[in-house]
Amino acid sequence: MVRPIYLFTFIFSFLTPSYADDSAAMAKLLTSFDTAPSGWSATTDYCMWKNVNCDGSNRVTSIDLASQSLTGILPSDLGTLTQLTTLSLRGNSLSGPLPSLANLTSLQKLYLDNNNFTSVPSSFFQGLTSLEILTLSQNLGLEPWTISTELTQATSLVTFYASSANIIGSLPDIFGSFPRLLDLQLSYNNLDGTLPKSLGGSGIQNLWLNNQQNGLSGTIDVLSSMTQLSQVRLHKNQFTGPIPDLSNCTSLFDLQLRDNQFTGLIPASLMSIPSLRNVSLDVNDLQGPYPQFPSSVTTHTLDGINSFCKNTPGPCDPQVTTLLEIASAFGYPIKLANSWTGNNACTSWTFIICDSQGNIITINFAKQQFVGTISPVFAKLTSLRNLYLNDNNLTGSIPDAFTNMTSLQVLDISNNNLTGLIPKFGDSVKLTMTGNPLIGKSTPSSGSGGSSNGTSPSGNTAVMGSSGTSILPGMIVSIVIAVIIFLVVMLLVSIKCYVSRRHRRPTISLKIEVRNIEISIEVLKQATNNFNEDNILGRGGFGVVYKGEYHDGTKVAVKRMESAAMGSKGINEFQAEISVLNKVRHRHLVSLLGCCINENERLLVYEYMPQGSLTQRLFDLGENGCSPLTWKQRIQIAMDVARGMEYLHSLAPQIFIHRDLKPSNILLGNDMRAKVADFGLVKIAPDGKNSLTTRLAGTFGYLAPEYGATGRVTTKADVYAFGVVLMQLITGRKAVDDTLPNENPHLVTWFCKILNKKERIPMAIDQTINPDEETMESIYRVAELAGHCTTHQPYQRPNMGHVVNILSPLVEKWKPTCHKLEHKFPTFHGVEDIYGFDQDMSLPLQRWQTM
Ligand SMILES: Nc1ncnc2c1ncn2[C@@H]1O[C@H](COP(=O)(O)OP(=O)(O)O)[C@@H](O)[C@H]1O
Ligand SMILES: *[C@@H]1O[C@H](CO)[C@@H](O)[C@H](O)[C@H]1NC(C)=O
Ligand SMILES: *[C@@H]1O[C@H](CO)[C@@H](O)[C@H](O)[C@H]1NC(C)=O
Ligand SMILES: *[C@@H]1O[C@H](CO)[C@@H](O)[C@H](O)[C@H]1NC(C)=O
Ligand SMILES: *[C@@H]1O[C@H](CO)[C@@H](O)[C@H](O)[C@H]1NC(C)=O
Ligand SMILES: *[C@@H]1O[C@H](CO)[C@@H](O)[C@H](O)[C@H]1NC(C)=O
Ligand SMILES: *[C@@H]1O[C@H](CO)[C@@H](O)[C@H](O)[C@H]1NC(C)=O
Ligand SMILES: *[C@@H]1O[C@H](CO)[C@@H](O)[C@H](O)[C@H]1NC(C)=O
Ligand SMILES: *[C@@H]1O[C@H](CO)[C@@H](O)[C@H](O)[C@H]1NC(C)=O
Repeated sequence: MVRPIYLFTFIFSFLTPSYADDSAAMAKLLTSFDTAPSGWSATTDYCMWKNVNCDGSNRVTSIDLASQSLTGILPSDLGTLTQLTTLSLRGNSLSGPLPSLANLTSLQKLYLDNNNFTSVPSSFFQGLTSLEILTLSQNLGLEPWTISTELTQATSLVTFYASSANIIGSLPDIFGSFPRLLDLQLSYNNLDGTLPKSLGGSGIQNLWLNNQQNGLSGTIDVLSSMTQLSQVRLHKNQFTGPIPDLSNCTSLFDLQLRDNQFTGLIPASLMSIPSLRNVSLDVNDLQGPYPQFPSSVTTHTLDGINSFCKNTPGPCDPQVTTLLEIASAFGYPIKLANSWTGNNACTSWTFIICDSQGNIITINFAKQQFVGTISPVFAKLTSLRNLYLNDNNLTGSIPDAFTNMTSLQVLDISNNNLTGLIPKFGDSVKLTMTGNPLIGKSTPSSGSGGSSNGTSPSGNTAVMGSSGTSILPGMIVSIVIAVIIFLVVMLLVSIKCYVSRRHRRPTISLKIEVRNIEISIEVLKQATNNFNEDNILGRGGFGVVYKGEYHDGTKVAVKRMESAAMGSKGINEFQAEISVLNKVRHRHLVSLLGCCINENERLLVYEYMPQGSLTQRLFDLGENGCSPLTWKQRIQIAMDVARGMEYLHSLAPQIFIHRDLKPSNILLGNDMRAKVADFGLVKIAPDGKNSLTTRLAGTFGYLAPEYGATGRVTTKADVYAFGVVLMQLITGRKAVDDTLPNENPHLVTWFCKILNKKERIPMAIDQTINPDEETMESIYRVAELAGHCTTHQPYQRPNMGHVVNILSPLVEKWKPTCHKLEHKFPTFHGVEDIYGFDQDMSLPLQRWQTM
């Protein structure tokens, strides 16, 4: 029975809409199309138009004009069709702004995809409380717009497609509002930020967020709780962190994760999701064992860039496995994934130093902003002596297992946020743990900082140069190496010019040799205007370099060093060093003109190179106002260096290994021709051999892996360093650059990754080079050569003669100045080598032998 009051409201509500009339809005809609849709006509009732439905009061409930080749601009009063439940305009060429449809509370299905609309009004998502399907995909001309949180009013939303729709901003954290949402497709937009938490626990089945212009970032951990997922397309973004455990996503069949920055091991559970059919993982930084999916799964390709330890399935080397477990406790930072490639942790993995047996002895994670905990598996590295974890954001406690590390000497955990008890370490361990306010509150430990009672750490710390000084900040590795270089060079340099009062027992012959190149301090003072500040050319690791000019106008560079750590290695080595420096004469090697001993000072005089070092030309352009090097100049420099090195390796009277080739040791003349300098570390290979074992020296970033690992140095270590220099000429990057966020600081690793994809090379080129097509070809050749020179296996690297042969055709023909022979035979490099050796230079000590 209907009571009168309800009847009244019923009639009233029935009558009210009847006052509203959709004829005006429908008439406008009709005229807004450039050509009328088929079956639409101004002369017939709009409720009779084809694909238009009305309710009993002539109110329009649905309009379906899909794929009718319509053009035109929609009228702004479309929003007055308040009874509309379905509106489809998809697949036309409609343009102009979308009209506001706010407060169309009956609207359930709105199809606007595949058109040419130009903007989305700001109130577009307001009050669409019944909306279930919204498609806006493929509207490429839209002004950038953001997803409004007003969409949360559409609590019945099932499908939201807006791919290729120019959406910007982040995904709002609103997915808790859509309990029925199944399909979210927002590919090919410019979304950024992270995946919102509210995606977790949602019932979304198809999640398409691939190909964002700049890329979504952060981890995808939230996926593990989206158990209804069947299709996940996240490729071409900037996601980081490991692939989460997706074993509860039992319907997942399509997982596209390629082209991101995922790190860490592929979870074994992924391989055993029975529903999985299609997977792509390439072009990430995934680590650990190469994955092996069941045959039911199609993998896009697994051989694109990743950091798997091997190219075939199977376990990694135990030491590698341990390091990856350690990285796992830090959430697999990208820095580690970038550099830790291959299956041998002793091949220039950043932060890792091994002994010659291939056991890890030092790990230096200081100041890396690592978060997470300290893994107990460190204890599996039984040779580990030095462990620096200081200045990170680590939490948790020091694992008890650390007391089992018998070789441990230095443990620095200062400036973190560690808690818990401190395990009892023996006296041989120097533990530094200041800056952890919460650690060990209840039990002060005997091992705590500075309480060691005199038994200093024994063993090999001095070799590492750290001597257990846990106060050393930052890149301990570099410092360690710098210290080694310092010691070695100071030793050699001191030997070079060493005639201390105590040891002044020179033989007659030696006096003659020294005098040949000895220069008095008065001459040098005069030449350098009494070592005037204004004459400073540069400062090196071991002293200041001054510009000088002799009476006769000869310009020289004077390197002035304090004789801090003077070893007394005896006269023989001194003679040997003098001998080296005098035997090495070549157009592309900077000559030593003399040396001088003055009280505590040691001075070396070199020929003056007016354009300074390649470092200044590559990296410090702003500071000295020089123009950037052209590609032609760069390749010429590479060629000059290659010739100088080829001479050292194979054409000089003995085999010389430079050991410290890098841009700061490549000096430039006014014609931008280059010479190799700084023979402080030069080693003569024993007769008939081209290798020798020596203490580690050189510069981090240029060290060949086998040299770093074993101390065994061959000419191929110089070839490696030359390859790094080539990479620097191409990219203008430092050999190790820690300032780059999310990129590998180690140039060789970074560059070799780029080499895998030729199309990426143009982006890696120094921005000051404006390459035309011909230049690009040349750059590709040199890039390839650089990769070849830095191969892990020394025997796979070319020798310098081969390098010269490859570079020759790339170098512009020599200018026909004085080098007529070269001009005549521009590609026959042997010619210049013969003449590059300066025959007319006096070589007083060339035949002089040690002992
Ligand atoms: N022969 C030279 N002619 C001109 N400048 C020089 C010469 N030798 C060194 N310099 C300048 O002095 C700087 C420091 O030289 P050096 O001490 O050899 O550097 P490093 O210790 O970095 O190898 C060089 O980078 C360069 O700018
Ligand atoms: C979209 O509109 C632009 C101009 O607004 C026009 O140049 C383009 O051809 C249109 N595209 C389509 C597919 O209609
Ligand atoms: C939609 O309705 C709400 C509440 O009735 C109102 O505040 C808002 O202004 C309306 N929006 C538009 C665009 O008319
Ligand atoms: C999978 O679901 C079970 C049961 O709800 C839960 O205990 C487990 O933690 C889930 N696994 C993951 C990886 O989320
Ligand atoms: C797997 O992906 C390929 C290419 O993306 C596609 O052609 C194929 O249909 C997909 N297979 C499944 C089962 O989704
Ligand atoms: C580490 O902690 C410091 C200070 O608490 C903070 O400023 C910094 O952002 C943190 N870094 C990371 C990577 O969490
Ligand atoms: C130390 O090593 C011993 C023997 O290998 C083992 O039994 C013990 O559990 C280890 N201690 C810790 C704290 O891991
Ligand atoms: C250190 O960790 C504690 C909890 O373990 C936390 O409350 C505190 O905020 C952290 N301090 C810093 C500086 O991160
Ligand atoms: C140093 O420690 C040892 C054993 O831990 C102890 O015998 C010795 O007395 C201590 N020396 C000092 C000076 O505290």
